[in-house]
Amino acid sequence: MKEEEMWVRATACENIPVREGRMIEVCGRQIAIFNLGDKFLAVDNRCPHQGGPLSEGIISGTTVVCPLHAWKIDLQSGCALSSTACVATFQTRVCDGIIELQIARNAMDQEPTHESRAHRDRPIRWVQRKPSSPISAPSEVL
Ligand code: FES
Repeated sequence: MKEEEMWVRATACENIPVREGRMIEVCGRQIAIFNLGDKFLAVDNRCPHQGGPLSEGIISGTTVVCPLHAWKIDLQSGCALSSTACVATFQTRVCDGIIELQIARNAMDQEPTHESRAHRDRPIRWVQRKPSSPISAPSEVL
Protein backbone atom coordinates (compact mmCIF):
# COMPACT_ATOMS: atom_id res chain seq x y z
CA MET A 1 0.00 0.00 0.00
CA LYS A 2 1.28 3.46 -0.87
CA GLU A 3 1.99 5.70 2.09
CA GLU A 4 -0.69 8.18 1.06
CA GLU A 5 -3.40 5.54 1.05
CA MET A 6 -5.44 4.18 3.91
CA TRP A 7 -8.02 1.48 4.57
CA VAL A 8 -11.49 2.70 5.39
CA ARG A 9 -14.13 0.48 6.99
CA ALA A 10 -17.19 0.55 4.73
CA THR A 11 -19.86 -1.88 5.90
CA ALA A 12 -20.52 -5.43 7.03
CA CYS A 13 -20.38 -8.07 4.28
CA GLU A 14 -23.94 -9.15 5.04
CA ASN A 15 -25.24 -5.71 4.03
CA ILE A 16 -24.54 -6.41 0.36
CA PRO A 17 -26.42 -9.44 -1.00
CA VAL A 18 -24.67 -11.70 -3.50
CA ARG A 19 -24.80 -10.33 -7.08
CA GLU A 20 -25.92 -6.88 -5.90
CA GLY A 21 -24.31 -3.52 -5.34
CA ARG A 22 -24.66 -0.81 -2.73
CA MET A 23 -23.40 2.73 -2.55
CA ILE A 24 -21.55 4.40 0.31
CA GLU A 25 -20.25 7.95 0.58
CA VAL A 26 -16.74 8.66 1.79
CA CYS A 27 -16.29 12.40 2.35
CA GLY A 28 -18.89 13.13 -0.30
CA ARG A 29 -17.45 10.70 -2.86
CA GLN A 30 -19.96 8.06 -3.89
CA ILE A 31 -18.47 4.58 -4.19
CA ALA A 32 -20.32 1.48 -5.42
CA ILE A 33 -19.42 -1.83 -3.77
CA PHE A 34 -20.49 -5.08 -5.43
CA ASN A 35 -20.71 -8.56 -3.97
CA LEU A 36 -19.64 -11.08 -6.62
CA GLY A 37 -20.04 -14.03 -4.26
CA ASP A 38 -16.34 -14.80 -3.86
CA LYS A 39 -15.10 -11.20 -3.63
CA PHE A 40 -16.15 -7.59 -3.32
CA LEU A 41 -15.25 -5.03 -5.99
CA ALA A 42 -15.57 -1.26 -5.67
CA VAL A 43 -15.69 1.53 -8.24
CA ASP A 44 -16.84 5.13 -8.39
CA ASN A 45 -20.63 5.15 -8.40
CA ARG A 46 -20.87 7.56 -11.38
CA CYS A 47 -21.10 5.92 -14.79
CA PRO A 48 -18.49 7.39 -17.16
CA HIS A 49 -21.21 7.95 -19.78
CA GLN A 50 -23.62 10.35 -18.07
CA GLY A 51 -23.23 9.69 -14.39
CA GLY A 52 -25.74 6.91 -13.87
CA PRO A 53 -25.74 5.21 -10.43
CA LEU A 54 -23.70 2.06 -11.07
CA SER A 55 -24.58 0.59 -7.66
CA GLU A 56 -28.13 0.17 -8.95
CA GLY A 57 -27.04 -1.72 -12.06
CA ILE A 58 -27.33 -5.42 -12.79
CA ILE A 59 -24.21 -7.53 -12.36
CA SER A 60 -23.23 -9.70 -15.30
CA GLY A 61 -20.09 -11.74 -14.70
CA THR A 62 -17.53 -9.20 -13.50
CA THR A 63 -19.31 -6.28 -15.16
CA VAL A 64 -22.20 -4.09 -14.12
CA VAL A 65 -24.81 -2.85 -16.57
CA CYS A 66 -25.57 0.82 -15.96
CA PRO A 67 -29.29 1.31 -15.22
CA LEU A 68 -29.56 4.42 -17.42
CA HIS A 69 -28.32 3.46 -20.90
CA ALA A 70 -26.95 -0.05 -20.39
CA TRP A 71 -23.23 0.59 -20.78
CA LYS A 72 -21.27 -2.32 -19.35
CA ILE A 73 -18.52 -1.38 -16.92
CA ASP A 74 -15.81 -3.90 -16.02
CA LEU A 75 -15.63 -3.88 -12.24
CA GLN A 76 -11.97 -4.96 -12.14
CA SER A 77 -10.55 -2.35 -14.53
CA GLY A 78 -13.29 0.27 -14.14
CA CYS A 79 -13.43 0.63 -17.94
CA ALA A 80 -16.51 0.64 -20.15
CA LEU A 81 -16.58 -2.22 -22.63
CA SER A 82 -17.93 -0.01 -25.43
CA SER A 83 -15.70 3.02 -24.86
CA THR A 84 -12.30 4.08 -23.57
CA ALA A 85 -13.98 5.84 -20.64
CA CYS A 86 -13.25 4.49 -17.16
CA VAL A 87 -14.17 5.03 -13.54
CA ALA A 88 -11.81 4.82 -10.57
CA THR A 89 -11.49 1.43 -8.88
CA PHE A 90 -10.73 0.77 -5.22
CA GLN A 91 -8.96 -2.17 -3.62
CA THR A 92 -11.12 -4.06 -1.17
CA ARG A 93 -10.45 -6.48 1.65
CA VAL A 94 -12.52 -8.14 4.34
CA CYS A 95 -11.46 -7.94 7.98
CA ASP A 96 -13.63 -9.61 10.62
CA GLY A 97 -16.67 -9.51 8.35
CA ILE A 98 -16.23 -5.84 7.47
CA ILE A 99 -15.52 -4.69 3.91
CA GLU A 100 -12.68 -2.18 3.81
CA LEU A 101 -11.76 0.11 0.91
CA GLN A 102 -8.33 1.48 0.09
CA ILE A 103 -8.74 5.23 -0.33
CA ALA A 104 -6.19 7.94 -1.08
CA ARG A 105 -5.54 9.86 2.13
CA ASN A 106 -5.85 13.19 0.31
CA ALA A 107 -9.42 12.23 -0.60
CA MET A 108 -10.11 12.21 3.14
CA ASP A 109 -8.26 15.50 3.67
CA GLN A 110 -9.88 17.40 0.80
CA GLU A 111 -11.70 20.61 1.49
CA PRO A 112 -15.29 19.48 1.45
CA THR A 113 -17.50 20.36 -1.47
CA HIS A 114 -20.93 21.78 -0.88
CA GLU A 115 -22.36 18.24 -1.14
CA SER A 116 -19.87 16.67 1.24
CA ARG A 117 -19.82 19.44 3.84
CA ALA A 118 -22.76 17.87 5.64
CA HIS A 119 -20.72 14.69 6.11
CA ARG A 120 -17.53 16.26 7.49
CA ASP A 121 -18.13 15.00 11.01
CA ARG A 122 -19.30 11.64 9.74
CA PRO A 123 -16.96 10.78 6.85
CA ILE A 124 -18.69 7.58 5.80
CA ARG A 125 -22.36 7.47 5.05
CA TRP A 126 -24.26 4.36 4.13
CA VAL A 127 -26.91 5.05 1.52
CA GLN A 128 -29.85 2.73 1.29
CA ARG A 129 -30.70 1.30 -2.09
CA LYS A 130 -34.33 0.78 -1.21
CA PRO A 131 -36.08 2.62 1.62
CA SER A 132 -37.37 -0.64 3.07
CA SER A 133 -33.95 -2.36 3.18
CA PRO A 134 -32.74 -2.86 6.74
CA ILE A 135 -29.12 -1.73 6.77
CA SER A 136 -26.86 -1.22 9.73
CA ALA A 137 -24.88 1.93 10.30
CA PRO A 138 -21.35 2.24 8.93
CA SER A 139 -18.35 1.87 11.12
CA GLU A 140 -15.52 4.25 11.85
CA VAL A 141 -12.50 5.24 9.73
CA LEU A 142 -9.34 3.32 10.57
S1 FES B 1 -25.23 6.99 -17.75
FE1 FES B 1 -24.53 4.95 -17.71
S2 FES B 1 -24.85 4.24 -19.69
FE2 FES B 1 -25.51 6.29 -19.76
